[in-house]
Amino acid sequence: MFFSDDFIQKVREQNNIVEIISEHTNLTRKGQSYWGICPFHNEKTPSFSVREDKQMYYCFGCGAGGNLITFLMEKENLSFPESIVNLAERKNISLEYGENIKPNKKNDIFEIYKMAARFYYFTLKQSKNEKIMKYLEDRGLNREIIKNFGIGYAPPDYNILYRYFKEQGYEDEILVKSGLCQQKTTRIYDRFSNRIMFPIFNPLKKVIAFGGRVIGEGQPKYLNSPETSIFDKSKVLYGLNWARANKHDYYILVEGYMDVIAMHKSGFTQTVASLGTAFTASQAKLLKRYTSKVIIFYDNDVAGCNATLRAIPILRKEEIEVKVLQLEQAKDPDEFIRKHGTEKLQQQLDEAKTDVWFQIEKLQQKYDLNIPEQKIKFLKFVAQIIGNISSTIEQAVYINEIIKIYNIDKNSLEAEIRRIFKNSLEAQAQQNFRDSIELTNKVYSNNKYKVSKPNIFIELLATLYHYRFIYAFISPYINKDLFEEGIYKELFICITNNIENGEEINIDYFVNCYKDIESQKIVSKVLMYEDERYKDINKLNKMINDVVKKINYEDIAKKQKTINNPLEQINLLEYKKVIDRLYIDITNG
Ligand code: GTP
Ligand code: MN
Repeated sequence: MFFSDDFIQKVREQNNIVEIISEHTNLTRKGQSYWGICPFHNEKTPSFSVREDKQMYYCFGCGAGGNLITFLMEKENLSFPESIVNLAERKNISLEYGENIKPNKKNDIFEIYKMAARFYYFTLKQSKNEKIMKYLEDRGLNREIIKNFGIGYAPPDYNILYRYFKEQGYEDEILVKSGLCQQKTTRIYDRFSNRIMFPIFNPLKKVIAFGGRVIGEGQPKYLNSPETSIFDKSKVLYGLNWARANKHDYYILVEGYMDVIAMHKSGFTQTVASLGTAFTASQAKLLKRYTSKVIIFYDNDVAGCNATLRAIPILRKEEIEVKVLQLEQAKDPDEFIRKHGTEKLQQQLDEAKTDVWFQIEKLQQKYDLNIPEQKIKFLKFVAQIIGNISSTIEQAVYINEIIKIYNIDKNSLEAEIRRIFKNSLEAQAQQNFRDSIELTNKVYSNNKYKVSKPNIFIELLATLYHYRFIYAFISPYINKDLFEEGIYKELFICITNNIENGEEINIDYFVNCYKDIESQKIVSKVLMYEDERYKDINKLNKMINDVVKKINYEDIAKKQKTINNPLEQINLLEYKKVIDRLYIDITNG
């Protein structure tokens, strides 16, 4: 194990979940809990609750739940040890490693990238090269921007970075693995030379790669770091580390590094870019964590238009509202701001078209609507665009506009859309079916307790945890053998042991020892369930009866299939009759 349990405990104790979650959503105290808008799904009214005393959170809307560490794992995409490091850094606690595996700084790619970024940055700062200074100035990269974006310079020498690391005792192997150096025959070269270096950060502001631009003309214009153990370009958005520092009504998606920098410089700090590759589903998922509205603002050329058309369905799939801002009188956002200024840009952003109108207008340019055959073709495609919208309300809005603008009959347009919509629904249904099979297979093979009827068991455990008196009523009908092996069973044993021994119920062990997100979700549910429910004793009573019966019926059904001995079968049938007649009444107690 990486960190000792004592150390993990120390780091947990010194951090406060309310403080950390408040960085992501506003929390208001009500009674024992804090409430806020859930940072894991989109909602208007708060169903996300945080308990300071228990150091746990739970969302009654989407079921997200866990402790401080799982919060960082889910929200910031960190691994367990990375979350610990993050928490330790917040409180300036120096790291203590458990047992034998001490990570070596000289083997840490994050450390190498950090050092390289500093190296390039200081090289630029000290450079007296006039050509570079002129270039930076021409491009509006002033001192402040260079500092804020950590921009650097890789000098023309073929291995200056390599030598810098070697002086400090780094091994060739890790330098090559980092992608910053490359082995060619017997020599090792730097990957980047004579380039302006843009460090690429992950959301936690750690450098994970570089984009290097030639100075002036030359090929390739940009050279990026290769994929490494810390860099997968399909999952990174340039600018996100700065954008996420504040809340924004919407995000702006642009194509290039220079566009991001120009936009941020002008106050549009919600701007991000994919790294010169097509926008991916992972990037859409990443964005969805921070926003539900995106304006695509790509270059004014055919490639930019096609890239926009491809990004739209990817964003829509994440239920992100998409608008498109098309550039006029400028090739890219960078140039637009220089030419027309920020006010003009804000005005255009306010007037950006919806993705649907953007598509329809692009299509219209390809047809002459005065020619009937062409108009038919055009409208068929329009029907297809509308048919692909999953919300029928949204469809209706567009249909009403379209029939007016293009002067066509509403019924025939709707009929065409229904036809297409039906086809796409069928395709979707088939896909969902395939997805669900795949998911089920995964769940079964990875994690046994995930599929063992979680809800009734959680209801039972939560009730026992919060209302221990109930145990006396249900103990004749519920015992540990009704649980499959796994965390539910262990929680049950722990809680009922505490109750039987007259002790305070304490499930801290599970908070500390089950480190995966699924287990923490279960533990947080048990701890937090009481907040919303069971306040009404009659509801609680009904729930208890339902749960006890369900668990027993499931067990009886399972046994009926496996028991051969006739006596046992008779006993089982008799027990079933007991359960049939069972009515637990906790209300007169
Ligand atoms: P400038 O041309 O310096 O203003 O930069 P830009 O960011 O506007 O670049 P451009 O519009 O040409 O390209 C958009 C993005 O595509 C860039 O920011 C890079 O991420 C990427 N890109 C452009 N050219 C190359 C290339 O030659 N190789 C790679 N790997 N990526 C490139
Ligand atoms: Mn550009």
